[in-house]
Amino acid sequence: MIELKNVSKQYRQGARAVYALKDVSLSIQKGEFLSIMGASGSGKSTLLNLVGGLDQPSAGEVFINAKPLHGISDSELTLIRRRQVGFIFQFFNLLPLLTAIENVGLPLLVDGLPFTRVKPMAEAILHKIGLAARAEHRPEQLSGGEMQRVAIARALITNPAVLLADEPTGNLDSHTGEEILLLLKSLHEQGQTIIMVTHDSKAAAYGTRIITLKDGALSQDVAIGGPLA
Ligand SMILES: Nc1ncnc2c1ncn2[C@@H]1O[C@H](COP(=O)(O)OP(=O)(O)O)[C@@H](O)[C@H]1O
Ligand SMILES: [Mg+2]
Repeated sequence: MIELKNVSKQYRQGARAVYALKDVSLSIQKGEFLSIMGASGSGKSTLLNLVGGLDQPSAGEVFINAKPLHGISDSELTLIRRRQVGFIFQFFNLLPLLTAIENVGLPLLVDGLPFTRVKPMAEAILHKIGLAARAEHRPEQLSGGEMQRVAIARALITNPAVLLADEPTGNLDSHTGEEILLLLKSLHEQGQTIIMVTHDSKAAAYGTRIITLKDGALSQDVAIGGPLA
């Protein structure tokens, strides 16, 4: 479902060229919960951003549902980013002036749907993740775990092909982090494809497959439990 073919990413840091990713090839099937591990600077976020169409590879190709992310117009790429992928981040990235329900509905509001249509959809997702009572709260009135759940709801409202999570528990205490991981696990059990970056091996173990990056290259690829692919 998601395919990376010989993907490299080079950044320029002054006169120096840094390889953030080196010739990574990877297939991720529908319904997988993939954890990406590796030391800081090993290329984890770069890989996630390339899959999400937030960035373009220097070489190689990325496909989502057999559709290439290269050689397409900016507006086509924007649509893929808005509808096919849902992103969650370490620092939640909620808009501070919007309520929880407005934050959740934002991807559809930006897409031009009226709030009257978006509201019941956002309410349904907030209810599903146990935050119905917080719908009218702004981010500053929510705990870290609640903010991350709002961010997850926002990522899911477009029913994306894949949920991309970059260190989703990195800014939470271990108990709250575990709650978020259990929520991701239950979404996976309901069929959601997930790719999660983490440097915490306990968090990674919630996935069904763990890959490890080392200096931008794929160094390990291990299936957890279940039948080996
Ligand atoms: N926008 C950028 N400009 C220059 N170098 C970058 C940029 N983004 C990432 N890098 C470099 O690419 C490498 C991989 O970064 P990153 O993917 O963020 O690693 P990780 O998420 O595993 O910590 C690092 O050496 C980092 O400094
Ligand atoms: Mg990172």
